[in-house]
Amino acid sequence: MRAPSNFLDLGDAGGDAIAAMINDAQDRKAARAGWPKGRPDADSPLAGHVLAMIFEKNSTRTRVSFDVAMRQLGGGAITLEAAATQIGRGEAIADTARVLSRMADIIMVRTDDHAKIEELARYATVPVINGLTDRSHPCQIVADLLTVVERGKALPGLEVAWLGDCNNVLHSLIEAAGLMRFNIRVGTPDDYRPDPAAVALAQDSGARITLSQDAAAVAEGADVVVTDTWFSMGHAHGEDKFAALAPYRVDEALMARARPDAIFLHCLPAHVGEEVSAGVFEGPQSAVFDEAENRIHAQKSILRWCLGQLG
Ligand code: CP
Ligand code: NVA
Repeated sequence: MRAPSNFLDLGDAGGDAIAAMINDAQDRKAARAGWPKGRPDADSPLAGHVLAMIFEKNSTRTRVSFDVAMRQLGGGAITLEAAATQIGRGEAIADTARVLSRMADIIMVRTDDHAKIEELARYATVPVINGLTDRSHPCQIVADLLTVVERGKALPGLEVAWLGDCNNVLHSLIEAAGLMRFNIRVGTPDDYRPDPAAVALAQDSGARITLSQDAAAVAEGADVVVTDTWFSMGHAHGEDKFAALAPYRVDEALMARARPDAIFLHCLPAHVGEEVSAGVFEGPQSAVFDEAENRIHAQKSILRWCLGQLG
């Protein structure tokens, strides 16, 4: 078994481990097809293990998928709403990390500030998983890549079109492009560009990351079209931003420019009529609910990798 590891970003695992996670997730998903969702997998590889989850921000998918993932792996999960814990009254992150490490086998955190999860990971003696920060959302991208692969698309050389705001999900997608060698065209106004350091890192690893203001050119011939909310949690709605992003809404005309077999992804929650039209969201190319279900299968592989069982 490998030594336990944190999963704060995709680079903590690297390309080979991410490929192993995708394979493992596909195998485990197939092996339990049709079973009740709470029934443990036949091998229950995390029997007796407990996951502690801290949420400083709202969540539906991350919360439920990690909880169900732990049940399917034979373990259990405890959900902590940060505001209802002593963290909400200012208990030190370092102390929280050391206490939870005595009570749980693995910790997942969703927080506004990436520095907080780095601090927690410094003091924790069990693996820490990033369940979304202001900077990245690596677990989402493992589920997204699983969704792409199970639709029969190879990752190396894949052409991904991202349209709209540049946020935590895009930053993890860009990191994945560098690790798995696929290409991303980002369609966004100049004022909403991705972090240049993230782009440069992926480009140095051999991914082609291009930035463009031309939404139609970005969508042209893409294998996968992706968007996300224009207003991430903690970011204020603004009419200026709404107007600036309107040309990047993924609608039927933009989707028609992608390959005929292209799929549409969105991490959810969606704001139908804003970043995506109802026709695309509900249309035949939309894989968003497979993508949501795949959060469970991806989390299981991430949990096993963190605990040294995979890769
Ligand atoms: N996609 C995602 O992380 O969803 P939740 O915010 O509901 O967890
Ligand atoms: N970019 C979004 C993702 C939600 C899962 C946010 O941070 O709110």
